[in-house]
Amino acid sequence: MCAMKVSDMVRIQVTPSGDRAYDVVLGEGALCELPALAAGRTRVMVIHPRALRATAAAVIAELRAGAGAGVETHAFEVPDGEEAKQLRVAGACWDALGRVGFTRDDLVVGLGGGTTTDLAGFAAAGWLRGVDVIQVPTTVLGMVDAAVGGKTGIDIEAGKNLVGAFHQPLAVLCDLSTLASLPAVEVRAGLAEVVKAGFIADPRILELLEADPTGSARLPELVERSIRVKAAVVSGDPREAGRREILNYGHTLAHAIEKVENFSWRHGAAVSVGMVFAAELSRLVAGLDRATADRHRELLRAIGLPVEYRGDRWPALLDAMRVDKKTRGRRLRFVVLEALGRPRGFDDPEPGLLLAAYGSVAAGGVSATGS
Ligand code: GLY
Repeated sequence: MCAMKVSDMVRIQVTPSGDRAYDVVLGEGALCELPALAAGRTRVMVIHPRALRATAAAVIAELRAGAGAGVETHAFEVPDGEEAKQLRVAGACWDALGRVGFTRDDLVVGLGGGTTTDLAGFAAAGWLRGVDVIQVPTTVLGMVDAAVGGKTGIDIEAGKNLVGAFHQPLAVLCDLSTLASLPAVEVRAGLAEVVKAGFIADPRILELLEADPTGSARLPELVERSIRVKAAVVSGDPREAGRREILNYGHTLAHAIEKVENFSWRHGAAVSVGMVFAAELSRLVAGLDRATADRHRELLRAIGLPVEYRGDRWPALLDAMRVDKKTRGRRLRFVVLEALGRPRGFDDPEPGLLLAAYGSVAAGGVSATGS
């Protein structure tokens, strides 16, 4: 696949304080940079979902051809989607690394959507207390969010992403040609994180999507702008000690919806509802103007993302939010906007205001008793 002409790549540097800098490489054919990055390793393990078996085989062939005869290549298949982010799957990855005698000098490659790169990163972070990982996201969501910034992890019964590690990749290769076969519903889910980047930091993203809510005509620019937002935030606060939390705009409620729905909702769909809620909360507690709050619902709806959730689920959602990572001690914490591009954290909104904000997304109105 790398015999074709490789277009010029966009390189976005992430410079996490206290950690080594790395590039996010973006463009058609970015994957072709993998063999050179793997050269000199003894073993490379490509972790990929079932659905990308053929792509993984092609990547392995390129590695064999381009990384030098001394590089031993392995593929390890994991379940598709959120099913991959289970402790038993991480355990299976470690068993596979053990079987081939993976050492500290070897390289893990995470090839797939956000669930695969989260899992592969976690497997790499845990193996021998940390081996190198190169992330190769193949979805919009993976490119603009999951694969960049070094957050890795798995889900457990108590909630999503509750067990994990900060483990920055050696590089992130975003090959836009892998998006060509992505189902429209997956593109839309990824656009939720793109919209988030727009509201918290880059309003030009919103204008581009308002002009074309499919995102198709300007997808490379939308992905690049979103990665630039993420790279800037992560560089300043790699371990989420402060500013990085703004990337969780819309996520407190989103994670709760995902949990209440047993992870059957796409992350982006839940983030979409979560942002409409967060916008209304921002209006109530942080002075966000109504037009900007309404802009969330209008744009997300135009994209085809959900902007409502069940009105009878509020008690269950509140319970789920209390174990979210953003919660501190007994306080519920949200990210709110003071204005377009001006996010900040907000602790413990009054219960009545929270309920009022939920009213803006509750289909059929809120029933506080739940079911
Ligand atoms: N997805 C939020 C973050 O990477 O911090």
